[in-house]
Amino acid sequence: MTKLWGGRFQQTAEQWVDAFGASIHFDQALVMEDITGSLAHVQMLGEQGILSVDEVKQITDGLHVLQAKAENGELEFSIDQEDIHLNLEKQLIDLIGPVGGKLHTGRSRNDQVATDMHLYLKKRTNEIIDLIVAFQKVLVTQAETHVETLAPGYTHLQRAQPVSFGHHLMTYFWMLERDKARFVDGLKRTDCSPLGAGALAGTTFPIDRSRSAELLGFSSIYENSLDAVSDRDFIVEFLSASSLLMTHLSRFAEEIILWSSQEFSFIELSDAFSTGSSIMPQKKNPDMAELIRGKTGRVYGNLFGLLTVLKGLPLAYNKDMQEDKEGMFDTVETVMGSLKIFAGMVESMTVRTETLEAAVESDFSNATELADYLATKGMPFREAHDVTGRVVFHCIQNGIFLKDVSLATYQDYSSLIEEDIYTALSPREAVRRRNSLGGTGFEQVRLQLQKAKALL
Ligand code: ARG
Repeated sequence: MTKLWGGRFQQTAEQWVDAFGASIHFDQALVMEDITGSLAHVQMLGEQGILSVDEVKQITDGLHVLQAKAENGELEFSIDQEDIHLNLEKQLIDLIGPVGGKLHTGRSRNDQVATDMHLYLKKRTNEIIDLIVAFQKVLVTQAETHVETLAPGYTHLQRAQPVSFGHHLMTYFWMLERDKARFVDGLKRTDCSPLGAGALAGTTFPIDRSRSAELLGFSSIYENSLDAVSDRDFIVEFLSASSLLMTHLSRFAEEIILWSSQEFSFIELSDAFSTGSSIMPQKKNPDMAELIRGKTGRVYGNLFGLLTVLKGLPLAYNKDMQEDKEGMFDTVETVMGSLKIFAGMVESMTVRTETLEAAVESDFSNATELADYLATKGMPFREAHDVTGRVVFHCIQNGIFLKDVSLATYQDYSSLIEEDIYTALSPREAVRRRNSLGGTGFEQVRLQLQKAKALL
């Protein structure tokens, strides 16, 4: 098959060589963006008097036919035409004749592909931001239900201090809030038009780059044509924001997996987000959470893949850059899928309130309360820490908890301890009294929820 660029060639490559260089099997995902970009480009060419009114009409009508076909999934692509840009141009020419060849006036595939990628990623980033917000709403709803549900708080995965379960859930809200901010910030660079940069040096035609940018809804344009066709920073930023988002989802997934184990039993996932075992009839596995934890790896891989592709490239376009796409598409799919699944999983999970609250009744996570109690009564905190440690040791040796120690025994350790120690040791009191700004005290969690809701 003749190539659109075949003029200077005497020989054609064999099919398997063409297949290696082709990108149509994945860049057809850009079909809509490519047509949108062409429509804006040809309109601008017309407005600038570079193409006649009639030529613009024929090309525009032809592009609309291709657009309608694409919407119905009726376009067929071929590796003979290498990529989405050449496939569409060829089909346009087949449809409306040689005038279709005027579409590429003052344009190169290099600014064309960059334009497509900017359009694509801008759209998808906005969709991801919407999915983040939807998940944040789910978290707020679950957290509101569990402001006063007590749960063990951990450090080193050892029981540390009791917390409000709502407070724990809201941690992920704030991580997502920062993720959202990173995507929003990245949009500033994505929302920038490379169109009109040509292959690398601009063009001799009197084009109007601001006009095509405006028609495409871009809020800025690249100031340097070489930069416009060489820049893939906006994709790296997207992959980086996605990697950090996936880190957060993966940490949450890990907690969901732990919590739904028989050992913790803090939550039960709904059947709709769990799977069974082909051999063990009793199993209910948190596959979705595990998969999200696992898929985090491919998103990191996509980030490192692109950074590595770019690191040695001289200016301007190099075919290496065709490798920017699959990782980006894959990341978009992975991130969107993970956010949707996670929101559904958290919305439908059952929180085992009694198990959570029973857990904080039978541990030493109230030991800080005893130390704080002594410190409040004037004992230097370091000394209070030591006294408490010795009481805890006594309890461990006798198989009891702090609430079971008699007042007489307490007073052997310190005469400062009085009857009110038992109230101070209550986990609910311990949580309620942590009323410092941003703390786990119920009042603070309610305040936090108010602030969170104002952001949505
Ligand atoms: N398929 C190519 C890519 O994705 C389009 C740009 C090709 N430009 C070129 N000069 N070969 O990178």
